[in-house]
Amino acid sequence: MTTSLPDDVRDALLRAGDRLGLFAGRLQWYQEVASTNDVAGRLAETGADEGTVVAADAQTSGRGRLGRQWSSPPGAGLYTSVILRPAPAVLGLITIAVGVAIAEGCQAATGLHATLKWPNDLYVGARKLAGVLAEAGTSDRGIRHVIVGFGINLVPAAYPAEVAARATSIEVELGRVVDRGLVLAECLAALSSRYGDLCERRTEHVLAAWRRRAAETFGRSVEWDVSGAVRRGVVDDIDGEGALLVRSARGTERLIAGEVRWL
Ligand code: BTN
Repeated sequence: MTTSLPDDVRDALLRAGDRLGLFAGRLQWYQEVASTNDVAGRLAETGADEGTVVAADAQTSGRGRLGRQWSSPPGAGLYTSVILRPAPAVLGLITIAVGVAIAEGCQAATGLHATLKWPNDLYVGARKLAGVLAEAGTSDRGIRHVIVGFGINLVPAAYPAEVAARATSIEVELGRVVDRGLVLAECLAALSSRYGDLCERRTEHVLAAWRRRAAETFGRSVEWDVSGAVRRGVVDDIDGEGALLVRSARGTERLIAGEVRWL
């Protein structure tokens, strides 16, 4: 069941005003849900507007990419999903644009600079700060909507102790308390702006912003899995469709899904 917006969130959204674009006035807040992506997916199926935002204080079955769990204890992270209904031409770069937007939103709200690891993980140094899960809703007529869910670690309680060496939070990095309402508002404002870039075919702006945030990835050695085998190469670039270009013994390989591991 939805509940009224927490005061910190409501105030920050009001201050962000028209920068929220298509997300203005469309946030539904829940105390606890299984997954905000599931709630947003159900709303999308029943005709909810593009720009509808679902956020929760806690998730009991938060999920990440590649079938992983996303730890989501109460108040420790931001757990948010938005409904988008992109034109087919825009679909391929959604995940890239969202990674850029969440990094820009976190920085605008707190000053913290996060880098991007393909396709859209946010890192500070070698530790993961936030992740994005984009899920398409389809019918026989193709893709009907995309649910974009993002999880941002606000405090260390957001992640289990066993991943503490590989994860971080905004408060750990900054050494101070942050305003989660402001982080959410700035992420939605940045998402509205970057989605606008895609819709108005300014894809080069989005790709350039992604490359700037991922600069330290270029030239690094990585490995990835292909049909049970491990391949290695050196990251070169992303192409105009958001695929990662990696130089390997076989030439330039084009990765369109999955993930790479830094070596
Ligand atoms: C990843 O890095 O693997 C992606 C993590 C995405 C987590 C968010 S939290 C809000 C939304 N609801 C979910 O169940 N997952 C996403």
